[in-house]
Amino acid sequence: MVGLVNYTTEMTVINSSGEEIPVEMTASIIYQDGREVATMGIYNDLRAKIETEKKLKEAERIKLEQSNKMASLGQLAAGVAHEINNPLSGILIDASLVLEDLEEDSPIRGEIRDIIEDTNRCKEIVKNLLAYSRQTEPKKELFNINDAIEQTFSFIGDHAILHDIIIDKELSPSMLMCKGDKNQLMQVFTNMIINAAQAMDLKGSISIRTSRDKPEGKIYIEITDTGCGISEEDLPHIFDLFFTTKDEGKGTGLGLGTVQGIIEKHGGKIKVKETSPEGTTFLIELPLFKVTEDTLI
Ligand SMILES: Nc1ncnc2c1ncn2[C@@H]1O[C@H](COP(=O)(O)OP(=O)(O)O)[C@@H](O)[C@H]1O
Ligand SMILES: [Mg+2]
Repeated sequence: MVGLVNYTTEMTVINSSGEEIPVEMTASIIYQDGREVATMGIYNDLRAKIETEKKLKEAERIKLEQSNKMASLGQLAAGVAHEINNPLSGILIDASLVLEDLEEDSPIRGEIRDIIEDTNRCKEIVKNLLAYSRQTEPKKELFNINDAIEQTFSFIGDHAILHDIIIDKELSPSMLMCKGDKNQLMQVFTNMIINAAQAMDLKGSISIRTSRDKPEGKIYIEITDTGCGISEEDLPHIFDLFFTTKDEGKGTGLGLGTVQGIIEKHGGKIKVKETSPEGTTFLIELPLFKVTEDTLI
């Protein structure tokens, strides 16, 4: 009768140069007729595995630290935004009253108009900041992502920025059911479309493609533009709060931060799939809601 007993354990061995090496040892003892006749040991060097685990942990720590930093920055910004909202409204009303009272040929009409315009811009920033940091959890309604996209285009379709742009929609004929906040997702698509349009100097094409992977339970939304692309240097920062490469007056750097916040609250992900000087493709992944087998055609 031959028998075999296996043990696996982690231990440290010392090599010929005195270096301590973490290993996983699998030892087997072979018995014959109840007597130990042979032993065999296999040592597996764990250094590479430990190093990879360490790197992964470090990357996770940095990511967490970063998202905590963004969350507190968002809260701080929202606090400030809230405080300056009322005085801004005051400035706007007073400046409008002054403008009304001015003579037609008054030399300061232009300046007052500038005050009104800049104040409106500040109010827009405040509004975006408040939207960014809004702590409300997304609503949980059931809707088809394709409808949210169609509705977004019907809202912004005739925006001047899209006039000379070809819009190509390839929406999946399947039901892309999503449980979440339709308004927030429409805000996502609006931001993505405006960014795409701004990236191409108002001429070119934007295509938006939807699909699903039923076994994986995922909805995919790809937004491709023929814009200027994102440089390697900018790429790691585009989702950061206040990161913008646009001229003053055009960008606030809040768009993609808001987009990422909303997508993540919906249990999804967003990334740049491809970018080159010929254009950019963003990929958004959202969980596909499964009602029952027959509600998903
Ligand atoms: N489709 C795109 N093509 C090229 N660059 C983009 C695109 N979308 C975003 N970006 C880059 O990411 C930056 C941040 O975008 P966003 O957060 O929306 O802020 P903003 O649009 O106010 O600048 C932009 O300034 C731009 O440099
Ligand atoms: Mg933007």
